Amino acid sequence: MHNFTFYNPVKILFGKGQISQLSNLVSANKKILLAYGGGSIKSNGVYQQVMSNLSNAEVIEFGGIEANPDYDTLMKAVQICKEQKIDLILSVGGGSIIDGCKFIALAAHYDGDPWDILTQKDLVCHNAIDIGVVQTLPATGSEMNCGSVISRRKIGAKQAFGSPLVFPKFAILDPETTYSLPIRQLKNGIIDPFIHVTEQYITTDLNTPIQDGIAETVLKTLISVSHDIVSGTTDYDTRASWMWAATNALNGYIGIGVDHDWATHMIGHELTAAYGLDHGQSLAIIAPQLWRHQFKTKMDKLAKLGRNVWGLENQDSEIVATQAIILTEEFFHSIGIQTKLSDFKVKVDPEAITENLFRYSNGNIGEHKNIDAQAVKEILLMAQ
Ligand code: NZQ
Ligand code: ZN
Repeated sequence: MHNFTFYNPVKILFGKGQISQLSNLVSANKKILLAYGGGSIKSNGVYQQVMSNLSNAEVIEFGGIEANPDYDTLMKAVQICKEQKIDLILSVGGGSIIDGCKFIALAAHYDGDPWDILTQKDLVCHNAIDIGVVQTLPATGSEMNCGSVISRRKIGAKQAFGSPLVFPKFAILDPETTYSLPIRQLKNGIIDPFIHVTEQYITTDLNTPIQDGIAETVLKTLISVSHDIVSGTTDYDTRASWMWAATNALNGYIGIGVDHDWATHMIGHELTAAYGLDHGQSLAIIAPQLWRHQFKTKMDKLAKLGRNVWGLENQDSEIVATQAIILTEEFFHSIGIQTKLSDFKVKVDPEAITENLFRYSNGNIGEHKNIDAQAVKEILLMAQ
């Protein structure tokens, strides 16, 4: 196990009715920027619940943050925060809204060009506006981590950043807010956390039973609830297990002291920027081919996936690891998740994708930093 420092200060309020806690979480007389997306919170009753618990605060609304939040939209909110001296940004929605709020919170206190926040990997920021979250889509884990991914459509870029300053102060997770999700987002909400786990688990076997055990449990939970979730179940316990699994996939616990990959995410972000694929869709396309491409270094953990998650019993690790990839793909297909670019009628341009991917990154990707431009092109062609 690698040495590690672990820090996660996010206060979680989980369960039905917890939005009513907002009035205790937000001090009276505070100025709040209420950030949301295209309007789902107004049709499913979440907006009304939030507003009725903010009666003591001054609320300024900022709606219209798009899925894969756009830099130019967010900069309008940055301006409002500066002019209005906002005390707290309340994100009500999915990962895109939370990520957008993390960027707004930092950019409002940053004196230089805010694009630096997304492109200068060693940039240290010193101040941010506080963030609170009401989560409505279990998928990204953004509600309990300090990462964020922002798109800048004007230049075809999608970039990630992280800063401990943007850990939400609190996150309210009420599984009942997820009942209104359409099937496309239900599928995204299974695949995204699944791949968050595999990016931290299908790496190197470092003899980390706690991390691996939790990772396997998160995967098994996602698998066991997946068919009911994509069928739109309103069984509360199933929704609750799903929501908490998604948070645990990327709140730091399973990533402590282990190698991290994230190459699937980095390539996936480029597919979203270039072809508009949903984040979850892009991951399902890349991950299985990346595992095949990197089979030698990932075989031990793929075999562990085969034995501990898929219940395979063969003694030969190579056979079990190969079978584990096939079973995982079959699982994705069984809940209607497609795994090829051609399924989305995308004809990939590997040259353009690779050029964009390495535009701001300072080197090769993957847990061994052995995935270079040539490897990315090969993986993209395998995924075609
Ligand atoms: O905009 P509204 O009208 O709210 O509709 C949204 C949006 O269209 C809808 N939705 C959300 N909750 C709903 C709902 N519709 C009905 N009922 C509800 N309860 O769902 C659509 C997608 O929402 P979005 O927030 O974009 O989805 P998601 O949570 O999957 O977030 C994706 C973004 O997060 C980034 C991705 O790259 C992408 O930009 N990620 C962030 C990470 C992080 N910060 O740690 C890690 C991830 O790997 C990921 O990269
Ligand atoms: Zn993701």
